[in-house]
Amino acid sequence: MDKILILDFGSQYTQLIARRVRELQVYSEIHPFSMPLEEIRAFGATALILSGSPSSIYAPDAPKPDPAIVSLGIPILGICYGLCVLADLSGGAVSRAPRREYGPAELIVDRAEGLFAAVPGTLPVWMSHGDKLDRLPDDFEVLAHTSNSPYAAFRHRERPFFGVQFHPEVVHTPQGTALLANFLFRVAKCQATWTMRSFVETSVARIREQAGNGRLLCALSGGVDSSVAAVLAHRAVGDRLTCVFVDNGVLRMGEAEQVVDTFGKHMGLHLIAVDAADRFLSKLTGVVDPERKRKIIGAEFIAVFEEEARRLGQIDFLVQGTLYPDVIESVSVKGPSVTIKTHHNVGGLPERMGFRLIEPLRELFKDEVRAVGHELGMSETILWRQPFPGPGLAVRCLGEVTRERLDMLRQADCIVDEEIRRANLYRDIWQSFAVLLPVQTVGVMGDERTYEHVIALRAVHSQDGMTADWVRLPYDVLATISSRIANEVKGVNRVVYDVSSKPPSTIEWE
Ligand code: XMP
Repeated sequence: MDKILILDFGSQYTQLIARRVRELQVYSEIHPFSMPLEEIRAFGATALILSGSPSSIYAPDAPKPDPAIVSLGIPILGICYGLCVLADLSGGAVSRAPRREYGPAELIVDRAEGLFAAVPGTLPVWMSHGDKLDRLPDDFEVLAHTSNSPYAAFRHRERPFFGVQFHPEVVHTPQGTALLANFLFRVAKCQATWTMRSFVETSVARIREQAGNGRLLCALSGGVDSSVAAVLAHRAVGDRLTCVFVDNGVLRMGEAEQVVDTFGKHMGLHLIAVDAADRFLSKLTGVVDPERKRKIIGAEFIAVFEEEARRLGQIDFLVQGTLYPDVIESVSVKGPSVTIKTHHNVGGLPERMGFRLIEPLRELFKDEVRAVGHELGMSETILWRQPFPGPGLAVRCLGEVTRERLDMLRQADCIVDEEIRRANLYRDIWQSFAVLLPVQTVGVMGDERTYEHVIALRAVHSQDGMTADWVRLPYDVLATISSRIANEVKGVNRVVYDVSSKPPSTIEWE
């Protein structure tokens, strides 16, 4: 299988490069620019892509790869800073541009070949750089220019080395995918074989090999990642996989039943559903501090899960739905930093119980996970579920978490869910939900004054949960949600809409 190695110099767009390449059905991986030459060789890439970077190639601590990458004999595409790296390794002159070039530019193609075969003669491209190429290295020739960059794209005369000053990976370069396709298929002669079907086949084989005759355990939350990981592992080892689903008492309406129904009954997974609501809720009694709520729920989850695991006897592996963005070693502006994110619900457990990990999705982006789920025949309802936090409704029930307050919140949340789906907005929105506030306000119902609870409505757009903006929901959708909640949920007389972005707010209220 052809593989593209993307060396990351810290650009905000590096993951996009990997995704675009994969969308073209060629497998790609991101590694830090400092990857040793031996490892690069061992990786066996068909071609290399050098990413952009917030650095200047002339900064004293500029990130630079092993210079011998140009002797590997494989095609190289340098993007933005990556172009400067290629020029630098080849003796070209790069200077600090008098002003940063940022935004749209018109690219004029001088040679319609290689990278620019079969694309229009002028194309809109997205620029975002500080350094600028002043002189072409010997042996290189210009392929395209803009009014501001005489060497906006170049190639080596004999070797398959290409550099582009702009970003073909972003949507603002509409022909970008065609350019990347030219690099992959015309220059590097890749075969488009990375499909979800091939992924499922190799992944199932790999899990079988890794698992041997061992037994597997998976904490199934009903979210997309753990669900797809579980179904994939189930396909590999059948009933040697046991899934544990913990009802922690702070789930959404009907959620526990839905998980048991879908995975236990329809998909035939060996599923243990633990009703631990009482345990969790009694531990939460009287607790209002958000951090304490989270800690209690996290610790209790591990305790319940561990008990179930012990009951099962010898378990060898834990299946986790870790995704690629969680394992990419991120390159910080100040050089390589190895920050691997870990936010699993079962933190610490594998070590304590001697489980080895099986993480079948650790090479995939979220949209690829959905595609795998689709390939595995999973329902759209599961694959397109909005994210739901581990501490569940506890962090949306501000103040004390009691059964009554949770019931109120659950009913309101259910109405939000129904109406957002009815308006066909569910998939477009990252998260939409209700929050129960710890205040009461005065209202009027019939001739009576009331003094009851307030529900806040939250709906946000986001790419990854790191930043978010509130959704401009149509007024009539807001109106329906508001009137249904006030009419149908006993104890609520007011609904407000949260118009805060993240930052400075967060998505959840606690
Ligand atoms: P915030 O509220 O920090 O949330 O803007 C960002 C994203 O993370 C989710 N979230 C969590 N997910 N355990 C989780 O699994 C948690 O403790 C947790 N807290 C927040 C949140 O729903 C949003 O998608």
